[in-house]
Amino acid sequence: MNKDAMNEETGMNAIADRMKHIVPFYVMELLTRAKEIEATGRSVIHMEVGEPDFVTAAPIVQGGKAALDAGHTGYTPAAGIVQLREAIAGYYRTRFGIDIDPRRIVVTPGSSGALQLILSVLVNPGQEFILADPGYPCNKNFVELVSGVPVAVPVNLENNYQLNADLVAAHWSGRTRGVLVASPSNPTGTIISKPELEKVFQVVLKGGGNLVVDEIYQGLVYGVDNYTALDISDQIFVINSFSKYFGMTGWRLGWLVAPEAYVDSIDCLAQNIFLSSSAPAQYGAVEAFSPACLKILEERRQAFWQRRDFLLPALRGLGFEIPVVPDGAFYLYADCSRLTRDSFAFAYDLLEAEGVAITPGRDFGSNKPERYVRFAYTTGIEKMKEAVARIARYLETADR
Ligand SMILES: Cc1ncc(COP(=O)(O)O)c(C=O)c1O
Repeated sequence: MNKDAMNEETGMNAIADRMKHIVPFYVMELLTRAKEIEATGRSVIHMEVGEPDFVTAAPIVQGGKAALDAGHTGYTPAAGIVQLREAIAGYYRTRFGIDIDPRRIVVTPGSSGALQLILSVLVNPGQEFILADPGYPCNKNFVELVSGVPVAVPVNLENNYQLNADLVAAHWSGRTRGVLVASPSNPTGTIISKPELEKVFQVVLKGGGNLVVDEIYQGLVYGVDNYTALDISDQIFVINSFSKYFGMTGWRLGWLVAPEAYVDSIDCLAQNIFLSSSAPAQYGAVEAFSPACLKILEERRQAFWQRRDFLLPALRGLGFEIPVVPDGAFYLYADCSRLTRDSFAFAYDLLEAEGVAITPGRDFGSNKPERYVRFAYTTGIEKMKEAVARIARYLETADR
């Protein structure tokens, strides 16, 4: 045990037990190494972090600056400014044709804040929450944070790397509190179909639990129609964010839509743990829904689509296996087992040898992580061409 973490007088461990279950985000360590390499003057092509390379669109930036100039620098209501909650409701109306009472929309510090609020309000200590493996790594840790038990269910090619009703039913126990689905998924980019999500919801209802759907990549789909789980039922919790499609990662802003009966508890908790989300970010985000801004976001979506269509065949040509074409997000989760037996060592070795940064499967769970790496196409096609050439050279020369 780390001596620094001991209480001098009592000799007791000063760091709470829950931290034993909270694992680091390995990609951040890889990013640190990538930055060290860059500091020596070598070039690194970044395909590891899930962050759009575009800076925030000008209308949002203008909105944020105007808010600062107008003195909107204090706390806001915990659930967010009315203008933004109404603008989000308007977005659901125009994009999906559904009416959501803005009261059910709670603005949060990123969707990370939304996940924290929902799980805190739903999960008692010892209760289980079902998640997909591979999945977004922090989800498991959020369940741990509220002393819940994450039940990571392996998903694979057969189920399009998504949970389905059979898997949820098979893992449902007397202690299950709910299910978290992310669609499109990180790291696989795959979508759960609406009929399948409806079936999952029925299983959850039968078990007396709650369904939470993370729609953070909802705006980023390519050549398919997307839907919102709110179209299935107003009893589903939905999470979304300004980070990815709206390109505002550093502004730290997201939202959730809760069933009516939970709104007051969520608001009460938000008042306590966040007080409010950033005021200038909220005013900026109101502008995200303006036609001028949506036009910019649409152009960016098209750019991501072109990138996916470049990178997918290029990686397949190098020997990576990506059997399903992912419909959304900006990730390719590639099976590299024909190229290496250890994706973690592979990712580090590739970074050292050729300056290409990718994320090893280990970050996304324990479902055969050594076979997978994740590529984020959050960089331009020219740079990706260079990355592909470097990987080809690495594969020819490296002794693996
Ligand atoms: C599936 C998923 N959910 C939630 C988040 C958290 O994002 P944020 O807090 O920036 O909204 C991420 C970030 O990568 C993600 O991939």
